[in-house]
Amino acid sequence: MKILITGCLGFVGTNLVLHLLKKGHTVLGIDSRFKREGSSQNLELTLKKGLEYQYCDIRNYNDIFNTLKNKERIDIVYHFASQVSFKNSISNPRLDFEVNLLGTFNLLEYIRQHSPNTKFVYASTNQVYGNLEKIDLVESETRFDFKTMKKGVPENYPLDYLSPYGCSKGGGEIYCIDYSRVYDLKIAIARFGGIYGVNQYSSEDHGWVAYITNMIRTNQQYRRFGHGKQVRDILYISDLVTACEKIGESKEKLNLTIYNVAGGPTNTLSVLELIKLIEHLTGNKSKDEVLEMRKADKVVMYLDIEKAKKELNWHPKVSYIEGLKKLLSWQEKG
Ligand SMILES: NC(=O)c1ccc[n+]([C@@H]2O[C@H](COP(=O)([O-])OP(=O)(O)OC[C@H]3O[C@@H](n4cnc5c(N)ncnc54)[C@H](O)[C@@H]3O)[C@@H](O)[C@H]2O)c1
Repeated sequence: MKILITGCLGFVGTNLVLHLLKKGHTVLGIDSRFKREGSSQNLELTLKKGLEYQYCDIRNYNDIFNTLKNKERIDIVYHFASQVSFKNSISNPRLDFEVNLLGTFNLLEYIRQHSPNTKFVYASTNQVYGNLEKIDLVESETRFDFKTMKKGVPENYPLDYLSPYGCSKGGGEIYCIDYSRVYDLKIAIARFGGIYGVNQYSSEDHGWVAYITNMIRTNQQYRRFGHGKQVRDILYISDLVTACEKIGESKEKLNLTIYNVAGGPTNTLSVLELIKLIEHLTGNKSKDEVLEMRKADKVVMYLDIEKAKKELNWHPKVSYIEGLKKLLSWQEKG
């Protein structure tokens, strides 16, 4: 198959590129190499394996048109290109809007006008569920947890687009849903939880697991916000890649399908629990500077993944212990 991956030099894009090339697909990747540490390393790695790469800024429709106009028909688009930082979306909401919402709109427009049979898989986020402040929590020594919603937040939970990032990613979802409905396009939405793993060049603002792991591994001081009992589910990258592949290759017409793709209730960790685990795995002592909890930080967030498990015949295979060991080993290789 001929597959287009937007944001191909980012963490998720790179890993899906490598997986699909290995499976024998032809992969075209586009990226603007927007301020991403690691994009040069990821470019070198994926080019060696056969990626066809083109610079393209999805904020600009003409860039997309000129990049794709003479290419052969694309079977699937995986749309990962994004401004991914919650914090940057607050300091620069226009940029966030232009990349995430206008960029998604531009791609949908290209598909509508020039490639209406192409399947389109949109990477969304658990941020569209807001901060879940109406859900009762229970506290234990190392974590908070949902009091009753033990399977996690399901796809039909009311959305609450907290932060410009939540708005722009959620706005992208709304356009996807409507383009699917009005123009009969084949579109699916995958709401990712926290993802971690190899080829992830994380920062304080994006990729908390890889960031904390790396700071403890290298004995560096880092900032930690609040009590540390915040809980998230985490999914190892190979499991995410498999889920994306299954969504894209699903025989069903994709329209209006929405899946939570995340670690789910059996792969949750609090910040304190992660720190303890990494201290144990590295033998190092965490050096954290504790600051106040950030505004709009959720206390507990994990997703109900039953729908993806049932309909895609998929489940997370890599436990967090195994995944963290793989991450550490990749980070150690530099
Ligand atoms: N990694 C996670 O934990 C996570 C969680 C939830 C959702 N997501 C979503 O998954 C997708 C991939 O995330 P990631 O972790 O790989 O992020 P990433 O930042 O590593 O990759 C995003 C890529 O998009 C590119 N990009 C940014 N602006 C662009 C533009 N205007 N034109 C073209 N390319 C541009 C960047 O250069 C980068 O290579 C994003 O849509 C993100 O919102 C990721």
